[in-house]
Amino acid sequence: MGPLPKSRLVVSGLWTIVAAVSLLTSCETTLTDALPSPQQPEASAARVIVRDARNPLFIPATITNSSFGLTAAPGTATIGSGTTTSVWQYNGSFPGPTIVAKTGDNILATFQNKLPEPTIIHWHGMLVDPANDGQPHQVIRTGETYNYNFPVINRAALNWYHPHPHMTIGKQVYNGLAGAFIIRDAEEAALNLPTGKYEVPLVIRDISLDKSGNPVYSPTGGGYFGKTPLVNGTKDPYLDVDKTVYRFRVLIGSTSRVFKLKLSTTNLPTNKEIPFTLIGNDGGLLPSSSNQTQIEVCPGERLDVLVDFGSLDPSTKVMLQDVNAGWNLLEFRVTNTSASYSGALTVTSSIPTLSAPVAKRFFSFDGMSKINGKLYDMHRIDFMVPFGQTELWTFKTNGNGPHPVHIHGASFQVISRTGGRGRVFPWERGWKDVVLVNDFETVDVLIRFDAYKGVYVMHCHKLEHEDNGMMMNFEVK
Ligand code: C2O
Ligand code: CU
Repeated sequence: MGPLPKSRLVVSGLWTIVAAVSLLTSCETTLTDALPSPQQPEASAARVIVRDARNPLFIPATITNSSFGLTAAPGTATIGSGTTTSVWQYNGSFPGPTIVAKTGDNILATFQNKLPEPTIIHWHGMLVDPANDGQPHQVIRTGETYNYNFPVINRAALNWYHPHPHMTIGKQVYNGLAGAFIIRDAEEAALNLPTGKYEVPLVIRDISLDKSGNPVYSPTGGGYFGKTPLVNGTKDPYLDVDKTVYRFRVLIGSTSRVFKLKLSTTNLPTNKEIPFTLIGNDGGLLPSSSNQTQIEVCPGERLDVLVDFGSLDPSTKVMLQDVNAGWNLLEFRVTNTSASYSGALTVTSSIPTLSAPVAKRFFSFDGMSKINGKLYDMHRIDFMVPFGQTELWTFKTNGNGPHPVHIHGASFQVISRTGGRGRVFPWERGWKDVVLVNDFETVDVLIRFDAYKGVYVMHCHKLEHEDNGMMMNFEVK
């Protein structure tokens, strides 16, 4: 028995210690040093399976045809180091395949439910009519099919798809049902941003696994926090990166956990922070890009960032970290392959600014289950909103946050946050569909429903709060 399995144990042990970042690094160096020399007999080399404490990052397959099928079913996934886990998947993939479409395409999707319980797909961030929105009352039973048919009217952005049944959304998303939905348009194409293997979706979440490697989900009203991070369903992932610019499409797919992302080199004498060039968020490109060293993002939020590995020495390791939990999320390993990049490094986009609201609405996120004192009733319409009119919506909470507030049917613009963190962050500019409301914060947004009329929902995207009833129906008319 070589030293490797033992070292692996040390790594897993350290993993539970918050802020073990630098220790982990030295541990990995030890692992590399401990690799068997090439002269060792093959028989013994073959027994050594764990050569590397980290696993190659899984990149889900893409669906580029606008007509496609999605099937939700139980299955198994390998999350790394030979660990097989029982999950729920779309098309046998964890996370689900990445759908790629263009503005103006017409999506024809046939959804089949092969789960042992009712479900429905919601296209988070997509502007679709209520019949295609996948709301709680639209769930289909085991064995049934739902046909979606809608035009893509959104601008370029990273959206996503996930289940939306009432009271079981947390469990279904946690079990693995989520995938990225990328939209492209001419404005984005003109920027020649990184593409192909240089554009990487990163679905970030947490999970707890039992001894046999299967997900454990035992939420309380206050939420659920997994003990291990996963990126694209991979535990302790790494990605080999060429010396060039990459575009990362980040989606926070956790049920409750808020991440504070940071990039740091881990094999230099001192950790050096590497900035993200933030170019976009939920609703696509931002009015202007900026460099950010830390970005705080909550369940449902998306980020579009460029990272330039071009000036780093080959074999430099750059760690994507979560400052909140003290987690190493994903290690980028710089190779000695250079690739030229001639696309944009800074981005501007002219985004129409909503202004002059003609009505105001106030929503208090109360406790762990109510909005304005009420639990969700899927058969009750809580309020009416006139079509095509700009309104000012205020979200406030006194506690039990974070409450990531999400609205279907329109994007909004965040205009102020008072209390708590007391400011609007650069990644909250432009168009949003989720905004984080922390304890004692009041957040004002401007919103205008000018795509479709009909019934939509607004809810807390901490999925356990949503399941508890922190959701409302409203009708645009
Ligand atoms: Cu991402 Cu109503 O949900
Ligand atoms: Cu909440």
